[in-house]
Amino acid sequence: MSLIERAAGKLAKKDIKNFVPGDVLQHDSREKSDRSSLFLSDTEVEKKGGGGSKVARSDLLIDPVNRVTDTKSAKRIDIDLEGLHRKGVVTLHHTKSEVAEQFRLIKRPLLANAFNPDSGIKNGNLIMVTSSLSGEGKSFCSLNLAMSIAMEMDHRVLLVDADVARPSIPVTLGFSPEEPGLLDVIRDPRLSISDVMMKTNVEKLTLIPAGRRHTQATELLASQSMRSILVELAQRYHDRVVIFDSPPLLLTSESRVLAGQMGQIVLVVEAERTTQQTVKESLQQIEVCDVVNLIYNKARAHGSAGYYGYY
Ligand SMILES: Nc1ncnc2c1ncn2[C@@H]1O[C@H](COP(=O)(O)OP(=O)(O)O)[C@@H](O)[C@H]1O
Ligand SMILES: [Mg+2]
Repeated sequence: MSLIERAAGKLAKKDIKNFVPGDVLQHDSREKSDRSSLFLSDTEVEKKGGGGSKVARSDLLIDPVNRVTDTKSAKRIDIDLEGLHRKGVVTLHHTKSEVAEQFRLIKRPLLANAFNPDSGIKNGNLIMVTSSLSGEGKSFCSLNLAMSIAMEMDHRVLLVDADVARPSIPVTLGFSPEEPGLLDVIRDPRLSISDVMMKTNVEKLTLIPAGRRHTQATELLASQSMRSILVELAQRYHDRVVIFDSPPLLLTSESRVLAGQMGQIVLVVEAERTTQQTVKESLQQIEVCDVVNLIYNKARAHGSAGYYGYY
């Protein structure tokens, strides 16, 4: 039985008491039936390579609600999918990789919560990916989740780079960090969120960059204007999965503010680094959201035969 099968089996049985590294995370004891924990091992990533991608302006473009829009702000980025694969991200031609398999497990409950009418979850399509500290794998998980859903499911995905102080998606996908994005829409009432959307060569994946740098970038995220954007995303784009790569919970307060408007939260926990106490503190910060999923990231694999690899 594979690690993932064991992890999934434990989840099904809600047996989360005997956590060891490489296993499903034991999280705090609040009895919220929607909380779940998911396991993700560190993947084999080729550190070098991974060329850039091109940003192109198209002459005519259909916007997310299928209107033909003004061509000036319409952008399209060609993601270098082979380069992305080398960075450990799920891509179309490598759907059998271990990371692809793991994200299939991770996305399933998220999509069920978002689109099953019986789930009763408000704004279930708004999913914030956060963590206690930086470097735990928020961007890695956001991008993999977005790619995995966009490639294989019947859902369109909007990936929002909301870690505005440290946006990493431009570097990973190879476009300029100066592309207008979320911060510009928050600051300029004349702009709408659809003005800064970037289509990609993955048909169902659209990006919303963090936007041009601003000294009060993170404070802007907690603004009333941001709240209105979230309402728009939840209502106008209710048929899409909107994934927010967000700031770390214990270093800034913005994710805490955003948590109140998210349908679901994915809390990424870095194996062998983040303590249970830290995780508990983070869970307290996001108590306002009823649906919190945990991803135990960069885990070393342990099986019945003992340690058998570091992914
Ligand atoms: N499961 C994983 N397998 C391999 N590399 C990972 C994994 N999770 C994160 N990383 C790598 O760890 C580093 C930090 O992750 P990142 O997603 O940028 O963290 P954060 O966004 O939380 O600051 C990046 O180089 C990323 O590629
Ligand atoms: Mg990041």
